[in-house]
Amino acid sequence: MTARVALVTGGTGGIGTAICRRLAEGGHRVATNFRNEDKARAWQAQMQAAGHDIALAAGDVGSPEEAERMVREAERQLGPVDILVNNAGITRDGTFHKMTAPQWQEVINTNLNSVFNVTRPVIEGMRDRKWGRIIQISSINGQKGQYGQANYAAAKAGMHGFTISLAQENARFGITVNTVSPGYIGTDMVMAVPEDVRAKIVAQIPTGRLGNPDEIAYAVGFFIPDEASWITGANLSANGGQYMGW
Ligand code: CAA
Repeated sequence: MTARVALVTGGTGGIGTAICRRLAEGGHRVATNFRNEDKARAWQAQMQAAGHDIALAAGDVGSPEEAERMVREAERQLGPVDILVNNAGITRDGTFHKMTAPQWQEVINTNLNSVFNVTRPVIEGMRDRKWGRIIQISSINGQKGQYGQANYAAAKAGMHGFTISLAQENARFGITVNTVSPGYIGTDMVMAVPEDVRAKIVAQIPTGRLGNPDEIAYAVGFFIPDEASWITGANLSANGGQYMGW
């Protein structure tokens, strides 16, 4: 496989770490962003100890200015971005009748506005070079909705709307744009759901268990090779069978 430059947002998180590792193992040069430098440097050292050199670029994906600076810094270190994985995301769960404006805005900004903020500075280069991969990490809850996640489900469904529009606009330029929709994965984000609530969710998963981050990284990797160039605008569910809608 041709070695490419990949930028993974939120790469230091649970699913992000697995995506960075998989792309690096595939021979790609990988960068991620950070907001907390100490935490990111410690993560980078751990990745290095495991044999993976991951570049770091400062920036909050929720800010257009910081996101652009972050992209330029990643490019300065590694070269033009060929593969973008929009993975950064947060939750601020709560039933809607109690949801505050900040709970709504923070989730929409970090999970959805970020997709504009980070993709905009890379798209022109991909179009010029006639090759690109843009992958959104959405969620099962963007497909089926989730009690307590009106903000998150709206943002995650919005990510796929973005995917299918961008896929149409850029297909002629060798750029594919796809979504991966993970189900419940054993990350800190899911472990923060109260245990009794989580147990009820796991009971609804036909495989009978939470997913693991490597299973999502595998789905991301699927879209990258040249053999995958006919696959664009897809939404790949990786959820242990919890939701099978199409
Ligand atoms: N269906 C129907 N009723 C439900 C329900 C559901 N799925 N979940 C909760 N309820 C009911 C409760 O039984 C309770 O009813 P009673 O008052 O009659 O006992 C009521 O709703 C509780 O409502 P409240 O407004 O008082 O809510 P709360 O403050 O207790 O918290 C919550 C509600 C925050 C939504 C909590 O249930 C929760 O954390 N749910 C999990 C949400 C979730 O799945 N988050 C995913 C995080 S991980 C992630 O997002 C990654 C990914 O992509 C998959």
